[in-house]
Amino acid sequence: MFQFFEKARPVVEDRGPGWFSAARPLPPEVRLGTVDTLLVARRNLLAIWPASAYRVSVDDIRLLGRQLVLVNSPDGVKHVLATRNDNYERKSPQMRRALEHLIGDGLFISDGETWRSRRPLVADIVHKSRVPVFGETMEAVTLAMAERWARRGGEAFDVLVEMAELTAEIIARTVFGNDLGAEAAHEVIEGFTRYQAGVDSLNIPYFLGFDEGLPILRGPGLRKAAARVDRVIRRVIDDHVAGRGDDKSMIELLVRRQKKNPELGLDVSALSNEAATIFMAGHETTAATLTWAWYLVANAPWVEEAVLAEIERVCGARPPTVADVAELDWCRAVIEETLRLYPPVPILARQAREADSFAGVEVAPASLAVVVPWLLHRCAELWETPDRFMPERFLGSQRPAPYTYIPFAAGPRICPGLAFGLTEAILCFAILIQRFRVRVVEGRAVEPVCRLTLRPKGGLPVVAAARR
Ligand code: HEM
Repeated sequence: MFQFFEKARPVVEDRGPGWFSAARPLPPEVRLGTVDTLLVARRNLLAIWPASAYRVSVDDIRLLGRQLVLVNSPDGVKHVLATRNDNYERKSPQMRRALEHLIGDGLFISDGETWRSRRPLVADIVHKSRVPVFGETMEAVTLAMAERWARRGGEAFDVLVEMAELTAEIIARTVFGNDLGAEAAHEVIEGFTRYQAGVDSLNIPYFLGFDEGLPILRGPGLRKAAARVDRVIRRVIDDHVAGRGDDKSMIELLVRRQKKNPELGLDVSALSNEAATIFMAGHETTAATLTWAWYLVANAPWVEEAVLAEIERVCGARPPTVADVAELDWCRAVIEETLRLYPPVPILARQAREADSFAGVEVAPASLAVVVPWLLHRCAELWETPDRFMPERFLGSQRPAPYTYIPFAAGPRICPGLAFGLTEAILCFAILIQRFRVRVVEGRAVEPVCRLTLRPKGGLPVVAAARR
């Protein structure tokens, strides 16, 4: 029987030089009732898992009469995300309801025919073959941030906010083109941030018997936030449709496709939903990844040394470029290990269309299959010393066994921005670490929390000292 408990405390284990244990909530000690479980989940979805959940298994859980199947085995993950994607392609009502006012029927939460017709288009515009072109923007925006850091003169700042601004600027320029303008970019970023902070990510009515959940209550704050985003995106789309857009941007690619193939039915509303989707999915996750990378490397100076030696060997004194990324093995390993320890999307919940049976569990229609990269990536049966920060796991030809490492999900709904996001994270990290020694402000306890994405609670205050 699966149990829920109260209170989570961050754990950091110190085992001496060469060893850093990445903070995680301590498995709760006191058993919780259903209401408390929901309250703790509302605060932090990572704080509900007891120690027994960090093992390979498939568990049948009930919450207010609703079935949740916790899928934490490579075979189970393969079944849900790949083999039976036809039955589990729908996102959870929680995810769909939380995002529908922001991205409409955008790819991230669509399914069925809408998903099938749009996926190739979106996947193509963020395809890895386009990454070298977008790479120039990544370099320019990161170098501009390095200049701003250099002028800070050692004062503390929240690196989570900085990384969100960095990746939002990169995605704004690549999706919308240079013509967006600073004010409009700020408007979209603010709108997204406020929306995410205010939105209900639990949708209790689903647990009370509404299979599709219920539309979330939108107070004036949430409405205003969604309207801010929508206004800017609509204006940009109108400009592009009227031929006034930057011809290298992702939106321009979508608009051109629509003009060439009107039968695709990409009307203005569909275009803006997909633009909002790429913007949201494409900046938040990379920002969280970079923030966690700073936290981990700041606590592992031996890793920092190896990274700097590699950058020196590959780039000498010049800044790393997108063309160097293929040779920056340590930088890549740091980002991959960061994504193992802190997967930005730590919970992937899918709703069963029909009854199913796997791993000895009878799955009822409309129940949730919950794949939790956060748990899977920290299973001692799958990873040696799972809490230890050890980028070496990803060096050389070593690759994790199939369906044990899924920061980008897996199967037909795998993240289409994988190459974009990985390249961006490696490049931004390499450019900034070459110039700055980043350290977490002394005495600061780091607690990972998850609402929609996995972030350090209250941000991550750091000091960045210039190296030369
Ligand atoms: C480190 C960076 C990133 C991580 C860890 C990440 C992770 C993920 C994950 C786990 C999913 C699947 C979610 C689910 O099944 O519930 C997803 C979907 C998606 N991601 Fe990413 N992502 C990253 C960067 C990006 C970037 C840069 C873009 C676009 C430029 C992007 C666009 C998308 C889109 C459009 C989807 C929806 C795909 C679909 O449902 O078919 N992502 N991402």
